[in-house]
Amino acid sequence: MVLSRRGSGSITLPTGQTLAVHTRTHDEEDLPHATKKTMADHLRKYESAFTLTPQRMRMIVEAFKETLEVGLDKPGQIVPMIPTFVFGWPTGEEKGEFLAVDLGGTNLRVCLVTVQGDGKFEITQSKYRLTEEQKQDDGQKLFDFCAECLKTFIDTSLTEHGGLHLAAGEKIPLGFTFSYPCSQDRIDHGVLIRWTKGFGATNTEGHDVAAMFRQSLEKYDVPVGLEALINDTTGTLIASHYVNPKTKIAVIFGTGCNAAYMEHVKDIPKLQPLGIDGGDMAINCEWGAFDSFEHEHLPRTKYDIIVDQTSNKPGEQAFEKLISGRYLGEILRLVICELIDEGVLFLGQNTYKLESPYVFETAFLSLMESDPTEELLMIIGIFSHFFAVETTLAERQFFRALAKLIGRRAARLSACGIAAIVSKMGYLEEGCLVGADGSLYNKYPGFADRVHEGLVDIFGDKGRNIVTHHAEDGSGVGSAIIAAMTKRRKDAGIYPNL
Ligand code: BGC
Repeated sequence: MVLSRRGSGSITLPTGQTLAVHTRTHDEEDLPHATKKTMADHLRKYESAFTLTPQRMRMIVEAFKETLEVGLDKPGQIVPMIPTFVFGWPTGEEKGEFLAVDLGGTNLRVCLVTVQGDGKFEITQSKYRLTEEQKQDDGQKLFDFCAECLKTFIDTSLTEHGGLHLAAGEKIPLGFTFSYPCSQDRIDHGVLIRWTKGFGATNTEGHDVAAMFRQSLEKYDVPVGLEALINDTTGTLIASHYVNPKTKIAVIFGTGCNAAYMEHVKDIPKLQPLGIDGGDMAINCEWGAFDSFEHEHLPRTKYDIIVDQTSNKPGEQAFEKLISGRYLGEILRLVICELIDEGVLFLGQNTYKLESPYVFETAFLSLMESDPTEELLMIIGIFSHFFAVETTLAERQFFRALAKLIGRRAARLSACGIAAIVSKMGYLEEGCLVGADGSLYNKYPGFADRVHEGLVDIFGDKGRNIVTHHAEDGSGVGSAIIAAMTKRRKDAGIYPNL
């Protein structure tokens, strides 16, 4: 980005394009736009709607903790607290070559991971962008696509990297990272409870997605054995602990939002019928569903309610809809649209480009918050290039302040979720690391700092004992390590059927 402090410059947009931008002189006077005073008045209104006080945060933490307990107690709860059949931490001794297929929110990724022991690994990977049609079409077709990509990866990319030398009939162990809530009875199986993150592929909810994927792998004759079905948070937990054993919790703040942690089997009453004898098991919380349907605990604004009701899953993923990257841009767009309707913003300009749902990407909020120029040239560029509207400085300052309110609320709510696990597990005194990943955590300026501030608001000074850090690649490396752990466990005859 090349920006002069004032007047004009050029910006690089998320699309990679470089744009020249110019500010107008006296722009407050020569456009019939909102003035500094009216924008400041409006901002006050939004400040009170989007601000979370420490007291409110502590109430949310208490309710969250109870919800986590209920999910561990009985199957089929709103926050399902899914036992993952990942038994305890990696030893660091895991070794071998593993494939990982990662079906996340935006891309499909295929990786070959060489787990080398001692916290070390190597990775070769390919990425494929998923289309909107693939997300909504028949589920089996989606798994066929995954199998086809995996086959191409094995046949081409890997051959270029020296190839895989397989004996006749030999299968490469595969970890399948499928980052949607699946209830599991054992590690290599999982019934999709519901799609999240805007996915809606048919004939998949209520089905065993591991079995569906196996069917596709057979169809394309791919020489792999699906060892483990893994959630991205569980992968992140294990990969981060493999590299840094102080990691006790993993969180994803990306297109979706979720957490995993290691629980004592004795404290998972719903597992009792399996007769597992002590030890620990990773739990995929699926906390994005916290407060779904009942909407008792989270402070939703009218914009959040619109986001929810116009989504493909009204009522569901209530916590995620206030936090994740899929929704933050849309929340801001709805506020802007309200002010357009009230005749406050963009009078006399054609605003049709701002009127389509989800056109305002969360990446724009990051860019707006990180604009270093006095004139806010980045914000000029976003509005003029993508939405063909001109802005005054007062409006741009307002948009930036609004982005800050929405981004800050997301981070503080995230802190509430982390605090609930910390307090449930008693990690506060001793402290722990939280491995965090996802576009929001990695790219949104100040997100991590705001989570940390939130933890201090909840716990006081002791909140500083809980530190988030950028996690290892859970969906690739974590998946491979879990496949390795599972193979070791089963080879040793430990719960071979789970
Ligand atoms: C899914 C989780 C996933 C999270 C982050 C949520 O929408 O339900 O399974 O871990 O997104 O990718």
